[in-house]
Amino acid sequence: MQLAGAIARRGDRVLVVDADPQGTATRWAASAEDNHPFPASVVGLSAANEKVHREVKKFIDDYGYIIIDCPPAADSPVPQSALLIADLVLVPIIPSPLDMWAAVGIRQVIFNVGDINEGLKSRLVLNQCQPNTTMTQETLEVLPEFGIELATTQIRHRQVYRQSAVFGQTVHDFGGKASAAIAEVEDLTSEVFKILGSK
Ligand SMILES: Nc1ncnc2c1ncn2[C@@H]1O[C@H](COP(=O)(O)OP(=O)(O)OP(=O)(O)O)[C@@H](O)[C@H]1O
Ligand SMILES: [Mg+2]
Repeated sequence: MQLAGAIARRGDRVLVVDADPQGTATRWAASAEDNHPFPASVVGLSAANEKVHREVKKFIDDYGYIIIDCPPAADSPVPQSALLIADLVLVPIIPSPLDMWAAVGIRQVIFNVGDINEGLKSRLVLNQCQPNTTMTQETLEVLPEFGIELATTQIRHRQVYRQSAVFGQTVHDFGGKASAAIAEVEDLTSEVFKILGSK
């Protein structure tokens, strides 16, 4: 949602496809005040299951960027379907062994779909980082062997990320106290544009 909002703020039409039955993205956008809507559109498509890619195709002409939020389950048909039409897959991981194990499943899905969608790019994105902990250090040490490139941008653990969800906004709406978070989200946005070869 931070990435979607940041791209929209740069002037592109952005659609978030909420393909997670938990519906967090949908609730996030719905939490915004009527006079200050979330900057990207959100549509719920989790019920489409293995046909998500077909449903998303219907929106392609109307948006510059489409971000699909998948459920965190490698055995769900949703991520496989979404990856069929994706240019880039971002795998957010918290630096901990638990998240690394979970990412092994999604790595297999990425490798499998890569045989069909040959242009598919992928990055791990470290989220909720607490840089000076041994857990983060140890995770960073094993990541180069993981098989998916690590994004340069790392997102730290910051309260304002949570707050912005409650208010249905991005960190950009929290002014000076959010400046470090805004910089992270802007860095991630620029990095994504660079990977995709966007202007
Ligand atoms: N960088 C961060 N700093 C602080 N809180 C965060 C950060 N990133 C996410 N959170 C909070 O952690 C919770 C889960 O975050 P998020 O929705 O990103 O997880 P998720 O991986 O999508 O969850 P799931 O795997 O269940 O879909 C939310 O309450 C969110 O606000
Ligand atoms: Mg999620």
